[in-house]
Amino acid sequence: MNKNDSTYLRIEGLKAGIDGREILRGVNLEISQGEVHALMGPNGSGKSTLANVLMGHPAYELYEGRVMLGDINVLELPVHERARIGLFLAFQYPVSITGVTVGKFLKRAVEARAENPEDMDVSSFFEKLEETMEFLEIDPRFVGRYLNNGFSGGEKKRMEIAQMLLLEPKFAILDETDSGLDIDALKVVSRGINRLRGPDFGSLIITHYQRILNYVKPDRVHVMYDGRIVASGREELVTKLEERGYEWLKDERVLENIRK
Ligand SMILES: Nc1ncnc2c1ncn2[C@@H]1O[C@H](COP(=O)(O)OP(=O)(O)O)[C@@H](O)[C@H]1O
Ligand SMILES: [Mg+2]
Repeated sequence: MNKNDSTYLRIEGLKAGIDGREILRGVNLEISQGEVHALMGPNGSGKSTLANVLMGHPAYELYEGRVMLGDINVLELPVHERARIGLFLAFQYPVSITGVTVGKFLKRAVEARAENPEDMDVSSFFEKLEETMEFLEIDPRFVGRYLNNGFSGGEKKRMEIAQMLLLEPKFAILDETDSGLDIDALKVVSRGINRLRGPDFGSLIITHYQRILNYVKPDRVHVMYDGRIVASGREELVTKLEERGYEWLKDERVLENIRK
């Protein structure tokens, strides 16, 4: 793939749902590599559905649209191929895996992303792993524990961010599901995102609350309502939501104006 081909992630007219019920009703969104976007919106607006469709969750049905990473339609790729081309989807491995340690899991994830897994330098991997764990304030003993087995919400989140830092994806989709994230976990997540921030990294941070946006300043903010992006703007949109909540979006006249 030509480097220039993969400089944006573009969601085009995406309609998807579950059991024949349309939840995403035509989502359009473009993120350039190098930009961090936030996706906000009230509960039930379809934010997690979007994340699940992007990650290829088998329960969701695609009705229309495509998601282009350069000239590749991500939705046509098997899930493991999505990681290979540089997409990182948090909650891809939410299950606990008995018998697979954190160290082994992360090593496999990096191998799966590498062009030539045989070429991977194992000692530099473990060096980077150690440094990453330290950066995220994860107890080094975690490397030998079974993945997510008995991990707290915050610990799972840290592991996820560790995985992201090791994989160095082109685009990361992070569905925060804010509940259960204490302030420390929130800060660690933010620190991880901010570390990767730069011309080769794009991200979509999905969040119901503006809290995380105090730590990661988004380049652009979108609001999802009823399966569509109804507003896009800069940080002032976050302030507006902070002041007025999501209630103002329920006013159809507002929606009509936004859609114009
Ligand atoms: N697995 C599912 N089964 C049935 N309905 C679902 C499922 N996932 C999402 N939905 C429905 O889709 C709508 C959007 O949900 P979701 O994407 O979780 O919203 P958000 O993440 O913005 O809170 C809701 O009405 C929800 O009940
Ligand atoms: Mg959600």
